[in-house]
Amino acid sequence: MSQAMMTVVSQTEIAKDIFELRLKGALVNEMGAPDQFLHIRVPGDELLLRRPISIAAIDADKEECVIIYRTEGKGTTIISQLTAGDELDILGPLGNGYPIDMLAAGQNALLIGGGIGVPPLYELAKQLHAKGVNIVSCFGFKNKDEVFYEEEFAAFGKVNIATDDGSYGKHGFVTQYFDELDGFVPDAVFACGPKGLLVAVSKTFDPSLTYLSLEERMACGIGACYGCVCDKKNSTSAYDNYRVCVEGPVFRAEEIVL
Ligand code: FES
Repeated sequence: MSQAMMTVVSQTEIAKDIFELRLKGALVNEMGAPDQFLHIRVPGDELLLRRPISIAAIDADKEECVIIYRTEGKGTTIISQLTAGDELDILGPLGNGYPIDMLAAGQNALLIGGGIGVPPLYELAKQLHAKGVNIVSCFGFKNKDEVFYEEEFAAFGKVNIATDDGSYGKHGFVTQYFDELDGFVPDAVFACGPKGLLVAVSKTFDPSLTYLSLEERMACGIGACYGCVCDKKNSTSAYDNYRVCVEGPVFRAEEIVL
């Protein structure tokens, strides 16, 4: 983990209020595991807390990475106004990403994402595909305007989409697809999204094979403030918790209480 400046290569609004930001810098050489995150200082002196945003794609050859985020407040709105050549103060890469070493070519991985939980699954899909792992993706979005990266994921396998209002794909929750996997039996399940989705995933699939990425509000991002704790299964005291920023953001479903 380092603190360094990265340069904006490009920024595009790829869906309603969803931005794809490509950054360049030597920090990319420290990135590896899918779903580590960057802790980004918002330009200007007004906002002190950094914003945690997961890494969606790594291009080591070009020393570039992509982050995808939703504008949800002042900080992310300021970041969304950056253009090519601007610089960002970044701390990272932080956290432990999804493990993939346990999967071999020919095995099956099910990717499940909700909304802004979809981006970190993209680097995961790239790395699994490179290993020869079969991939099926199930993604949920609010509506058609907020759907993104369907084509990009389709390059790696079948993509199932559901929207809350039925304007695209199946109407309702993405969990509807869990019973319709057409004989695709996952050897590992990877999920990222809102808590309700993660609870449904952990109840449906074998918790020892299911990896959940938690979205938590963060302050320090480096384990010092205990502002991001989540409950540990079989914990021995009120202080025996996991810090999402250090021990996570990815946990096996059997390790945590949601
Ligand atoms: Fe401070 Fe995790 S954000 S300990």
